[in-house]
This record gives sequence, C-alpha cells and structure tokens, in this order.
Amino acid sequence: MTSPDRKIIIAIDGHSSCGKSTFARAIAEKTGYLYIDSGAMYRAVTLACMERGLLQGDGVDQGLLAETLGEIRISFRKEPGSSVPQTWMNGVNVEEKIRSIRVASNVSLVSKFSIVRSKLVSLQRAAGKDRGVVMEGRDIGTVVFPDAEIKIFMTAAPEIRAQRRYLELRGKGMEADFAEVQENITERDRLDETRPESPLTRAPDAITLDNSYMTLQQQMDWFCDLLSGMNFSLKCRT
Ligand code: DC
Repeated sequence: MTSPDRKIIIAIDGHSSCGKSTFARAIAEKTGYLYIDSGAMYRAVTLACMERGLLQGDGVDQGLLAETLGEIRISFRKEPGSSVPQTWMNGVNVEEKIRSIRVASNVSLVSKFSIVRSKLVSLQRAAGKDRGVVMEGRDIGTVVFPDAEIKIFMTAAPEIRAQRRYLELRGKGMEADFAEVQENITERDRLDETRPESPLTRAPDAITLDNSYMTLQQQMDWFCDLLSGMNFSLKCRT
C-alpha cells in the first residue's frame, strides 16, 4: 500500500506519435517531477548503430551491438530558458538527428533486441529509483515499473497521429512526406506490438486516454482531475 506522502511513478505508454512526450512533459511541469523520454534512449542507440554501419538488412551483429552499447553514454540536458530536454550521446547533442525519419525507420528494429532492452531498462529503473518521475515509452507500466502508481495508456486515431507528426517535423524545418510519415507510424506500431520481447501492450491496470480530439489543456484537465481523486499528496500545481 503506497503511503499518500510517498513520491510516485507516473508511467505513460502508448502508440507512436500520439503526443505522449508533450503530455508527459506537461505533467512533469505541473507536478515538479522528473521527465524521462525512454524512446529518446532507443533512438540514440539506433543512431549509434547507424553511424557505425551496424544495420545491414534486418540483422545486427550482436557482438558489435554489445560493444556499441558498452560505449554509449546517454544523458538529457535542458538548455537555459527551455523546458524541453535535449538528448546527448557521448558528449554530443543528438536531439535533431534522433528525430529524423531515418532513425524512426530503424528504431523498432534495434529496440527489439533483448541486449538493448536490458541495458536501457536498467538505466530507466536507475533514473526512477527515488520515484518522483514521469516516464513515457512502450513498456514502462508493463516491464520497467510494473508497480507504477499511475499508468496511462495513450492512443489516437492513426490519421490524426500521422498529421501531428508531419506538422511537427515540418515545424522543425525538417523534410517530411505525409505518406512516408503515416507508413512509418503504422509500421512502427505493428513492430512494437508484435515483438516477442516487451511488446507494446496496455497494462491491465492502465487507464486509457484517447486524445484524438483533445487539446493539451483538455488532457491536462483530465489528468489533474484524475490525480485529485487519488489518495496521493501529489497534486497539480496551479
Ligand atoms: O516514443 P518514440 O516514438 O520516440 O519511440 C521510438 C521507438 O523506440 C518506438 O517505436 C519503439 C521504441 N521504444 C521501445 O521499444 N520501448 C520504449 N519504452 C520506448 C520506445
């Protein structure tokens, strides 16, 4: 039984491009909790594999993958004046590179390997060992923190998700083709849901949030209402 004063873990899982990061970041700001984007870690490992030429077809040399994993240091840093953390790998800011469609096309291939998952899951557990975190991904409520006090499973209609990701990429000045973005999202969901290791699935005790027709403000109102009805001292800051 969780004491009402104890810090908790808020686990947010769900489909690709349904706004998990924006929502999780807003919750972290409202609660003063630490925000961790686990997908950025899988993207960073994927980028490292691509830069080292490890991805040939559907396979990856497991020895070289293990070596690469041993050499990667991932961290998150906020630029002064920004609330959005940037992903760094081995001392280099890789935020822009890991969001590219090339990395998105390979990330489900790399993240299916158990050697990758066990390394990243242990980093994620270390980040949440004192609790007080909002962590988003695909297996946070099922594998990383099955004891998370709040689990939210997010989804939205596939066309709406594709539209959001397309606008986000274009907004960042990146090349994007709508059909390619849509295809990437559908394929990533398929691979993430069907992989044998830690597939994307809704935890039985997760609450589903379909945000297809919700603004961020409406999602935050929903979350703060949910939190106020729970027996935790944590409340949304006004
Ligand atoms: O959240 P995202 O779209 O940035 O995640 C990129 C990919 O990383 C996603 O398609 C699957 C993988 N991933 C994962 O396997 N497990 C997680 N906890 C987070 C992401």
